[in-house]
Amino acid sequence: MYPPPAEFASRAHVGSLEAYGELYRRAAEHPEEFWAEMAAREVHWFEQWNHAFEWHPPFVKWFVGAKTNASYNCLDRHLAGRGSKPAIIFEGEPGDERIWTYRELHGHVCRFANVLKSRGYKAGDRAIIYMPMVPEAVVAMLACARLGITHSVVFGGFSAEALKARIQDLDAHLVLTADGGWRRGREVRLKEAADEALADCPGVRDVIVLKRTGGTVEMKQGRDLWWHELEAGAEAECPAEPLDSEHPLFVLYTSGTTGKPKGILHTTGGYLTYVTCTMKWVFDLKEEDVFWCTADIGWVTGHSYLVYGPLSAGATCVMYEGAPDHPGWDRWWGIVERHRVTNFYTSPTAIRALIKQGEELPARHDLSSLRLLGTVGEPINPAAWEWYHRVIGKGRCPIVDTWWQTETGGILIAPMPGAVPLKPGSGTLPMPGIEAEVVDFHGKPAPPNTEGFLVIKRPWPSMLRTIWGDPQRYEQQYFSRIPGIYFTGDAARRDEDGYFWILGRVDDVMNVSGHRLSTMEVESVLVRHPAVAEAAVVGKPHEITGQAVCCFITLKQGFEPGDGLAKDLRQWVAHEIGAFARPEEIRFAETLPKTRSGKIMRRLLREIVTSRTVTGDVTTLEDLGVVARLAAQEDED
Ligand code: PRX
Repeated sequence: MYPPPAEFASRAHVGSLEAYGELYRRAAEHPEEFWAEMAAREVHWFEQWNHAFEWHPPFVKWFVGAKTNASYNCLDRHLAGRGSKPAIIFEGEPGDERIWTYRELHGHVCRFANVLKSRGYKAGDRAIIYMPMVPEAVVAMLACARLGITHSVVFGGFSAEALKARIQDLDAHLVLTADGGWRRGREVRLKEAADEALADCPGVRDVIVLKRTGGTVEMKQGRDLWWHELEAGAEAECPAEPLDSEHPLFVLYTSGTTGKPKGILHTTGGYLTYVTCTMKWVFDLKEEDVFWCTADIGWVTGHSYLVYGPLSAGATCVMYEGAPDHPGWDRWWGIVERHRVTNFYTSPTAIRALIKQGEELPARHDLSSLRLLGTVGEPINPAAWEWYHRVIGKGRCPIVDTWWQTETGGILIAPMPGAVPLKPGSGTLPMPGIEAEVVDFHGKPAPPNTEGFLVIKRPWPSMLRTIWGDPQRYEQQYFSRIPGIYFTGDAARRDEDGYFWILGRVDDVMNVSGHRLSTMEVESVLVRHPAVAEAAVVGKPHEITGQAVCCFITLKQGFEPGDGLAKDLRQWVAHEIGAFARPEEIRFAETLPKTRSGKIMRRLLREIVTSRTVTGDVTTLEDLGVVARLAAQEDED
């Protein structure tokens, strides 16, 4: 156990276990009053609500009848007191740097919102944002939010195919992109991928292109417009639209258990209230802090803790465009040193990759500005936790291990660092208002230290509202296992102190480098390849990325297994989904193990990849027939 350092606790927003307990108790006993108080304190409202929330399972509304605006909360309300405070400290991969104050960011957002307005976009429209990690991506999000245009950010690492599916599902008429971005010294050619996607998206009227790399791009007449040209002619004032608290702020696509990604819908007032609260509860944000979340804006962590949470809380945020190893593996530590970062939030995968580089690299930099560290996205193994604590935090900085999901909008289980003693590997205790529990198949609470399903028994302000265009799938996915109760899809156990230990997914979702990837999505891509007859995909334990994608393939007649084909298949998946989904391993088999009723036995495949260490590709055919026959018997007995 690591108790909160006394000095840290004495200055913290929540400075003792008793204070945490009191907040938790108040929220549990009087949720309406509690959340109304938080909303009034943390968010600016143009009009007040009638009820704090309305819960008709599985649908919820928060701050019903109230009006607010996320962009106003992230910008305008800070102008009086924080106008000249840096809002964004940006470092590009090539080394270019920009620092924008809240006033400057406000100016950029207003001008860009006026651009969108002049092109006829308004509340209720949808925009896709497919951009590199540059300040203009934040401008794009906040300009949309200012007018009530629902945005969907697509991670720049996604392929043209993935982008196309998202544009079509959202029926977006507007796409905001860039010529490219920098990653490991190379240009990621975003406009080129966008053009490929847009060939099948006739509904898109405008494509606004930011010049970032200066690479050559084709501009399609009548559709494509340069960002800088439009912005140059725009007015600098643009009032924020008063929007309903339940106005759709953004849709973010994430992998589910089928081949089709789910568009997770988040709305305005409740989301903003919750992410702003957790900036204080979890990150203990102080006025003078320099907050750095390394996540890409294309993931939910980037939405909630790079953009909406920190900016709504008036923080100074660091934003870095590129790869952690460019030009060397100490790039991040250089950024911490140069900008005097105080709060640093990253993924266990990144930490494990950094551990491999040794302690000498961080030792070259002055990391004394750090006071709080965080992790997100996957379980952190205690050894990585200890290294992070000792080598980066010099034993001084609490580590907040934050459990949450795209669906939850904000952090649900994490220590309040001034209050809760830490146990490496545990997300510790739930936030106020979060009734988390570990239950068995029937929804009964599991005894301490017994594995079960993690569920959340009450609605909270930043929970997803639905799956875009598919309320049935929403109900079925999250509220049918135990009626009326949110099913997270994670297994967990609670220890004797009530601490939560997350054990991983219980569905067919892999977690690769903290990114969610569906086995079915990869399978459906693989079977579209001309050589593939059948495919079964499982997550395989991986030293750095937590899990890696492992594919079992049977081939059509006339195709032979081999290194060339394995490489082809890996490339095919990267092309269809994105480079982060590239399989680590392709294994060819004569047949796939199936139950007598014809279902692929993934459990068996998972056991095979977990227990047998295989290096490189297995380029000869494996005969899984024998194991399959044995296991099939066992499975149906
Ligand atoms: O399995 C849990 C894991 O990541 C899943 C959510 O993935 P995604 O929606 O992509 O959001 C990731 C960033 C919020 C969860 O169902 N997960 C997330 N955080 C943790 C975690 N597993 C263990 N510990 C965590 N701190």
